[in-house]
Amino acid sequence: MSERSSIPSAPRKRPKPLAIDVRVPAQALSYPVVVGCCVLSRLGEELRQRHGSASRVAVISDDHVFPLHGEAAIRSLEAQGFAVTPVVVPAGEASKQVAVLVDVVDQLLKAGLGRRDAVVALGGGVIGDLAGLAAALFMRGIPVIQCPTSLLAQVDASVGGKVAVDLAAGKNLLGAFHFPLAVLIDPELLATLDDRQLASGLAEMLKHGALFSAEHFQHLVDAADAFFGRDYDVIAPLIATSVGLKAACVGRDPWEQSDAGKGRVLLNFGHTLGHAIEAASNYELAHGEAVALGMLASARVARAKGIAGADLEVTLRDAFARLRLPTDLDVWLSGERGAAVERMLGQDKKRSGGQLSFVVIARLGEPSVLSLHVRELLALARRSG
Ligand SMILES: NC(=O)c1ccc[n+]([C@@H]2O[C@H](COP(=O)([O-])OP(=O)(O)OC[C@H]3O[C@@H](n4cnc5c(N)ncnc54)[C@H](O)[C@@H]3O)[C@@H](O)[C@H]2O)c1
Repeated sequence: MSERSSIPSAPRKRPKPLAIDVRVPAQALSYPVVVGCCVLSRLGEELRQRHGSASRVAVISDDHVFPLHGEAAIRSLEAQGFAVTPVVVPAGEASKQVAVLVDVVDQLLKAGLGRRDAVVALGGGVIGDLAGLAAALFMRGIPVIQCPTSLLAQVDASVGGKVAVDLAAGKNLLGAFHFPLAVLIDPELLATLDDRQLASGLAEMLKHGALFSAEHFQHLVDAADAFFGRDYDVIAPLIATSVGLKAACVGRDPWEQSDAGKGRVLLNFGHTLGHAIEAASNYELAHGEAVALGMLASARVARAKGIAGADLEVTLRDAFARLRLPTDLDVWLSGERGAAVERMLGQDKKRSGGQLSFVVIARLGEPSVLSLHVRELLALARRSG
């Protein structure tokens, strides 16, 4: 008979799990955003000052922006002794995909970049997201300086550290938080941006005003001619105000963990339906155009819920018309397009248990968050008049 069976087994004492406290010095999350004419010519100095150990730099850009502004960026970096490799991808949302990301990372390797080197993102939001994610992943992460060239990227995409590519199942599904070393915003780069893309950026600026500052919202509407006339003395401070409003929100909730109605979730205003409309349009609508329609839908939902008056939709609609943004929401909520929007909403990555967090405003500057089912959301948004 074995010893084991003859001795009555005493209950085995489980050893206490060992908890080892690994202390990581707090990650520095602050970075400068510099807004001003000709800041691209200071790119080399900024990188030298903030990350002097780099010797090689990849300037990631797209084939619209690079021929226009690539040389200025490269000249500034070379003047500081950096070895520069341009990595140029086709312009457009289609470049925000895994295959392009892997190809970009391969090009960084071929260029001889190492752990101490850095990436510069020179382009619109697509490049900011793609280059930022490549920097986040390359050798477990190297710094990125964001040099946004579209208005949308200047006031929104470049600030906040979110970087991502799209998957077949939806936008921005593969991503990370990778805060930039610095953001350099030169409003004069908007000289080469077409008016439709300019308006797309204005939608995100109006969003910042609608959420946090009625005064900023009104200043933007009043500045319509200055924007389309590229009056940089008017444009630069308005860009800085929008960046400041977004940065304050991001600073309250850098990792988007707060659902309390105060955090980053608010920045989704107009985006829940906006992303679905953008995808249903096969990206024929610019991001900001879709977001404008999403904000209109939100005004309708807020009215149907008794949170906002009918005047809110009118205020938004007038502002969008003035800033050359679409207002034809109904064509996206009915028929085949409506069905496509509903399908896209069903895949929203921010959905939990069939419910979506949906941002509304009661009036300009007064946001709050509702929890709604996709069907309810669409039914409320469809209800007009
Ligand atoms: N990370 C974030 O927090 C965040 C926030 C908002 C949007 N985004 C992302 O940003 C993307 C949209 O950004 P976008 O609207 O800038 O798109 P984009 O990068 O595709 O740029 C729009 C077009 O303008 C061109 N362009 C950009 N700057 C130019 C310039 N100065 N002169 C001439 N042409 C220029 C581009 O080549 C492109 O053809 C989306 O993928 C969206 O998901 C990310």
